[in-house]
Amino acid sequence: MNENSNKLWAGRSSKSADSRVNDFNSSIRFDFRLVYQDIRGSIAHATMLGRQGIIPAAEAEALVNELEKLADEVSRGELLPPADAEDIHTFIEAELTSRLGDAGKRLHTARSRNDQVATDFKLWVREECLSLRDEFAKLVKALITIAEKNLDTVMPGYTHLQRAQPVTFGHYMLAYVQMFLRDCSRLSDAYDRAAEGCPLGSGALAGTTHPIDRELTASLLGFSSPCENSMDGVSDRDFALELLSDLSIASVHMSRLAEEIILWSSTEFAFIELDDAFSTGSSIMPQKKNPDVAELVRGKTGRVFGDLMALLTAMKGLPLAYNKDMQEDKEAVFDAVDTVRLGLSAFIPMCETMTVNASRMRDAAGRGFINATDCADYLAAKGVPFRDAYKAVGGIVKFCIETNKTLETMTLDEYRAVRAEFDEDIYDAISLDRCVAGRNVYGGPAPDEAARRLAAAKSALSLYAEV
Ligand code: ARG
Repeated sequence: MNENSNKLWAGRSSKSADSRVNDFNSSIRFDFRLVYQDIRGSIAHATMLGRQGIIPAAEAEALVNELEKLADEVSRGELLPPADAEDIHTFIEAELTSRLGDAGKRLHTARSRNDQVATDFKLWVREECLSLRDEFAKLVKALITIAEKNLDTVMPGYTHLQRAQPVTFGHYMLAYVQMFLRDCSRLSDAYDRAAEGCPLGSGALAGTTHPIDRELTASLLGFSSPCENSMDGVSDRDFALELLSDLSIASVHMSRLAEEIILWSSTEFAFIELDDAFSTGSSIMPQKKNPDVAELVRGKTGRVFGDLMALLTAMKGLPLAYNKDMQEDKEAVFDAVDTVRLGLSAFIPMCETMTVNASRMRDAAGRGFINATDCADYLAAKGVPFRDAYKAVGGIVKFCIETNKTLETMTLDEYRAVRAEFDEDIYDAISLDRCVAGRNVYGGPAPDEAARRLAAAKSALSLYAEV
């Protein structure tokens, strides 16, 4: 027995671990973040041990009281781990033992750090799923507000970043509303799954011979059930991978909107203007107003993907059950959560304060033959097979380009020279407002239809936020 080591697991070792091993192994510098979850888990475990008569009831009570005190001290910044602490679990246990003696030493009966860390981390991830969902709900709310004001703001819709067909800015924003509502729903799903299957009681990997009550600890910790298999319980990190996946997908959405905002705020587009408080200047070019927030949101997406890749790779090929590799789970998740949260905190008010240049949008929609499909649809509605109509309008566009005309300035004679089906009502059919209003199919940009969806989006949002 090595009397020199202060490690709780120093039982069979004849030497203290090399200090470089301690530095390398230790996780306290990042897992102190799990302190409240660790304390909660220990309170549930101690309560259960006492009720089951596995430890004396009075000791269980003393443990619970002292754990509550510890939480208090941590919240007041009075309790911090010593520099040589190994991880949050051993730190709390050592602290209890130094205060309570044998009762502290009994806390780890029928428990292992393996089921302990899985439980702590699952509790932490579970809470984050909900709180991040609420953050995304705030973004949805901001975008709904912008959409509501812009249901009639005609702008070009693009494919291949080429002007394609007219839409409205409201319709455009509602597309992002759908994406972020799916993100909210994904985070809710992740929460639901993380709220089942409490790992506590899985022990090191094979449960325990003590008569523990897993239902009790699961319910004390707000899980709907204990996990079904002890080996899965200690080695499952799906809940962390799920949160990272959800955040990666949400980051794709944020990054796409960020890119739109970067483009739209350029002089080339000038569709929107960012508030001065949400843009930055250049140290050399006095005229510059840079969309740094949007760029950084776009840039940080890579980090979130990196966190997902790091954990997927760490987990891949691990034999059952716990392996130390799994200690890598926490920093990846903490970093992704912090990155997304920080990004949203600037991104949401940036969106809320941007101004929309409706006349620039309309102007852009008036160029680039954005109503050419409508012109072909006009012929198709008069019985011309669509493929023939498409060809005829292609010829008209070519003629317009050569003669510096638009579909609006073509004379009726010029139209008729191409197809006899053209009539005076062509001009109405290709007017921008008609082109948008006519697209009143389910999911289309017509203001009436978009208003219906706006209401639907509000009711979806009301699941997560006050609308
Ligand atoms: N710090 C460890 C982790 O984060 C806790 C579990 C340690 N278990 C063990 N058998 N070494 O994964």
